[in-house]
Amino acid sequence: MSKNKTTVPPTTNDAGIRVQSDEHSLTVGRDGPIVLNDHYLLEQMANFNRERIPERQPHAKGGGAFGHFEVTQDVSQYTKAKVFQPGAKTDVLIRFSTVAGERGSPDTWRDPRGFSVKMYTEDGNFDMVGNNTPIFFIRDPIKFQQFIRSQKRRADNDMRDHDMQWDFWTLSPESAHQVTYLMGDRGIPKSWREMNGYSSHTYSLVNADGEKFWVKFHFHTDQGDGNAYLSQDEADKLAGSDGDYHRRDLFNAIRDGDYPSWTLKWQIMPFEDAKTYRINPFDLTKVWPHADYPLMEVGRMTLTRNPTDFHTEIEQAAFEPNNMVPGVGLSPDKMLLARGFSYADAHRARLGVNYKQIPVNKPRCPVYSYSKDGAMRTENASDPVYAPNSYGGPAAQPDMTGEAGIWQADGEMVREAYKLREDDDDFSQARALINDVMDEPARKRLVSNVVGHLCDGVSEKVLQRAFDYWRNIDKETGDRIEKGVRDKLGGKSSAPGMASAESIDGKQAAE
Ligand code: HEM
Repeated sequence: MSKNKTTVPPTTNDAGIRVQSDEHSLTVGRDGPIVLNDHYLLEQMANFNRERIPERQPHAKGGGAFGHFEVTQDVSQYTKAKVFQPGAKTDVLIRFSTVAGERGSPDTWRDPRGFSVKMYTEDGNFDMVGNNTPIFFIRDPIKFQQFIRSQKRRADNDMRDHDMQWDFWTLSPESAHQVTYLMGDRGIPKSWREMNGYSSHTYSLVNADGEKFWVKFHFHTDQGDGNAYLSQDEADKLAGSDGDYHRRDLFNAIRDGDYPSWTLKWQIMPFEDAKTYRINPFDLTKVWPHADYPLMEVGRMTLTRNPTDFHTEIEQAAFEPNNMVPGVGLSPDKMLLARGFSYADAHRARLGVNYKQIPVNKPRCPVYSYSKDGAMRTENASDPVYAPNSYGGPAAQPDMTGEAGIWQADGEMVREAYKLREDDDDFSQARALINDVMDEPARKRLVSNVVGHLCDGVSEKVLQRAFDYWRNIDKETGDRIEKGVRDKLGGKSSAPGMASAESIDGKQAAE
């Protein structure tokens, strides 16, 4: 027997039974047909046909790693959450992603980046499902599905289309702030390790005395200043030569012991301020200026372990903004509240109803829920299987006064995302980003990125609106963009746009 055969374990089928060959099917004679009782061959073929699971609807392409979060400051005056008490150290999972691309799409396409954190706390899983920008394109969840469709693929040719991207954005002026981020350097970060992560949303906190606060989370990278970027040219080349550029960078750094870390900082708003602050503090298209609510350090998150099986540990990871532990809660941000419904539904559809029993999603604390049965359940339920009961089953312990995520609400039913306040306009924070945060080279890159994007398949009517959109943000930037586009296109528009619904109906009626 060769040395190799004695040192490796024997191949088995999924039932643990040794198989006779990794290379030859069982046949009737050397030249004869395959027999149906070659169960191992059948198992290989059948399992292979079922290897793919649906990809995430948005954020399909990503990568992730494991590590820990350690509290470095005393923030117990703001929250009773055990995970944020002085000295607490908690295991974490993080997943970075792009939004619109599919599972195999290049890491370096221009897009916001997802920044999902799962903390396995002793009070259950706490998930912060954020992005690498502190704001978002829309403020009402009813537009989210439409927004994502406009960023993905057309119906007719299944191709991405800048015309529909700009059509949606320019018809949704609340997108101006996020689009300015996206077209600037943050639209293509140099690596996941070098980018910041934000809750973007406002969450709530409650301390041990029942006192409540509003909070925004900022994970600042310790690898640079959070602004490391790839130029459009570099990104385009990498999209062709190394589609997994960001995934590879993270994996190799951790493999080589170069562990990336982020410092968690909070902006805290006293509970009562929310009623009178000049900006609606729950509007996801706005930041809270640091001059009003300064950043305070909370702790550090460090990634130290790569997955060993991408499928079970990252592809099957299920993050959900509704995973809030005692001491932290949601807020009146309508987007956040809708996300509180949406993600668990996505996981049930993609992974199955018992997705929280998949090891990567499983809480590291005892689970005493009354959920029972269902596909792929692996944990045993036990009697009594109902509540209330008189047989010593788990009993809920209401403590609404000490809960975060509880606030007073009253009013007529309306369809209107927020009552406008003094400084609630769609453009001024985007303008400040261009004029106060970007320097001139960054502004030039912004203009050049927008010009390049608009010159690639955008119809004249959408182009006109895009110039006005940018002029509303900043007159000079809008003028520079229009000139850049007109010079590049030499008087033509770059695409005819799509047939309007009216003409499609008209055509069908005529036929
Ligand atoms: C993924 C819905 C807004 C960040 C997803 C997924 C859904 C979804 C269905 C796929 C989940 C899965 O299959 O695992 C929504 C809805 C939104 C919304 C309905 C608004 C109403 C946002 C916002 C952010 C965000 C504002 C960031 C601040 C993410 C991230 C992922 C994701 C990071 C990937 C999670 C992962 O790494 O597995 N979203 N989303 N989403 N979303 Fe949202």
